[in-house]
Amino acid sequence: MNIILLGAPGAGKGSQATKLKDYYGIPHISTGDAFRSNIARKTEIGIYAKSFIDKGQLVPDDVTVKIVADRLKEDDCKNGFLLDGFPRSIPQAEALEGLTKIDYVINFVIDTEKVVARLGGRRTCSCGETYHVSTHSSPLCDKCGKELFIRDDDKDEVIRNRMAVYEKTTAPLVDFYKARGLVVDVDANGTIEETFDAIIKLVK
Ligand code: AP5
Ligand code: MG
Repeated sequence: MNIILLGAPGAGKGSQATKLKDYYGIPHISTGDAFRSNIARKTEIGIYAKSFIDKGQLVPDDVTVKIVADRLKEDDCKNGFLLDGFPRSIPQAEALEGLTKIDYVINFVIDTEKVVARLGGRRTCSCGETYHVSTHSSPLCDKCGKELFIRDDDKDEVIRNRMAVYEKTTAPLVDFYKARGLVVDVDANGTIEETFDAIIKLVK
């Protein structure tokens, strides 16, 4: 099953992806995680991407599409994949149509004030796990034991830019995929478990 997780920053795409990848047995491909890994390793792509990410802007389409195109060629994507944070613009969606077929676009429907609260309290691990300070007080990752960190782009001003970019450039993808009959709307205002249950009921 080839699935896109589409939604605003903080809607819970990453939190759901870590559960859905185990449930469906398919890899989780997050362009945000790929960029953060490149930034940590100080690669050429990482240094380039950081200048956009730190301002809450999108990394240019050509660089982002290449990362996904290369990743989709790997063996573990043969039985399906979860795309988290890609595509994020109409040109990216058009490029993806040339690479593979999509079965479902899960559209995370959520109130704006909720996402701002979620991002403000997020703690992240380099292994990809995500927590929220309201439900996880330890400074360490439950899964791998590494120290959690606050993402540089989870500062108030950068969050506002990311929301604006989402509305202008990414939200139009809902209609793009509705026109193709692929969108499944999921209420993402509930708990992580409630949202997960809603997704697996709708995506068979
Ligand atoms: P990316 O890493 O994709 O960030 P994002 O889309 O802004 O989304 P987030 O990761 O912030 O939110 P999420 O929906 O995954 O929420 P999460 O599960 O963590 O991208 C970062 C940057 O990279 C972009 O700004 C851009 O610059 C660049 N980039 C990436 N992809 C790109 C592309 N395709 N093109 C160009 N540039 C690109 O949850 C958030 C918090 O809420 C956590 O603390 C979590 O514990 C908590 N939470 C989650 N669900 C719930 C729930 N149901 N109830 C209570 N708390 C919850
Ligand atoms: Mg994420």
